[in-house]
Amino acid sequence: MSEADPRPGRATAEARTNIALVKYWGKRDATLNLPAAGSLSLTLDGLVTTTTVERTPGAPDQLVLGGEPQTGEPLLRVSRFLDLVRARANTSDGARVTSENSFPTASGLASSASAFAALALAATRAFGLKLAPSELSALARRGSGSAARSLFGGFVEMRPGERPDGADAYAEPIADERFWPELRMVVAVVGGGVPKSVPSRSGMEHTAATSPLYAGWLATVASDLAAARAAISARDLGALGEVAERSALAMHASALAARPAVLYFRGATVEAIHAVRELRAAGVEGYATVDAGPHVKVLCRESAARVIAGRLAEIPGVTSTFVCAPGAGARLRP
Ligand code: PMV
Repeated sequence: MSEADPRPGRATAEARTNIALVKYWGKRDATLNLPAAGSLSLTLDGLVTTTTVERTPGAPDQLVLGGEPQTGEPLLRVSRFLDLVRARANTSDGARVTSENSFPTASGLASSASAFAALALAATRAFGLKLAPSELSALARRGSGSAARSLFGGFVEMRPGERPDGADAYAEPIADERFWPELRMVVAVVGGGVPKSVPSRSGMEHTAATSPLYAGWLATVASDLAAARAAISARDLGALGEVAERSALAMHASALAARPAVLYFRGATVEAIHAVRELRAAGVEGYATVDAGPHVKVLCRESAARVIAGRLAEIPGVTSTFVCAPGAGARLRP
């Protein structure tokens, strides 16, 4: 499927982060980063990673993040990803990767989803490859499972696939960012400065290996995906929000039951979830979701976003709040 571009190169791509409404938590293959089940997400505007890849024949890989040259694990992770691109492009050229986030890295929202989606698009183009969207998504998946979804805008579903080589484990767009324009995600950043949480990769592997609730969590995914798809096509916020909140809490329940427990919540996380449920009972409709960290994201309509953000900002330990609309997929920049 890949066609070679004769021009050597340099390419810049941008990608946005996404938040899963039906979570991905557990793999069927760790080496190829194959998910054990599907997932479904909303790509957000505002949280953008812009990455430039420049081929540097004869030189080692370099990584500059937000103006800071990187070494050690961050560089190794990018280099290992570039190896996959080099193998396809049949070259051993090094590359210089320069990446910027439109949001402060210290907010704790730095996302491997936007990072590896932008890197997959920029690196393939810089190395003269033009992949089909599904191939590009499967490639981004090797960097991070959620990155496979950030190639596309709006609502996106990740297919776990069945093949041992993972060629059928890629994300597909369900409805683009214009489909449901009044939808919003309020992001409440909890505890800027708290110690770094367990990375999602090790958190999910440990959960799968030790949690007696892992099988129960996995059993929720297929019906939640079906309910989420139906809610999206009906633009039914109540139905979609119920799925999102229960999927997040079931994922965290499985992590909490791991031995030892994987606990991402801080006090403010729990207070924020309570506040969202209380507002909802009072007629301000929002639904909470939490990823592998303490921050709370709330799915709501534009008309409720300010009230929800204002209430969450009052909670001690919530250090900032902002509101995102549905965002576009990854794209090359001139
Ligand atoms: O893509 P990863 O390996 O960072 O894992 C993402 C895990 C969650 O954010 C907790 C859930 C999800 O589906 O994005």
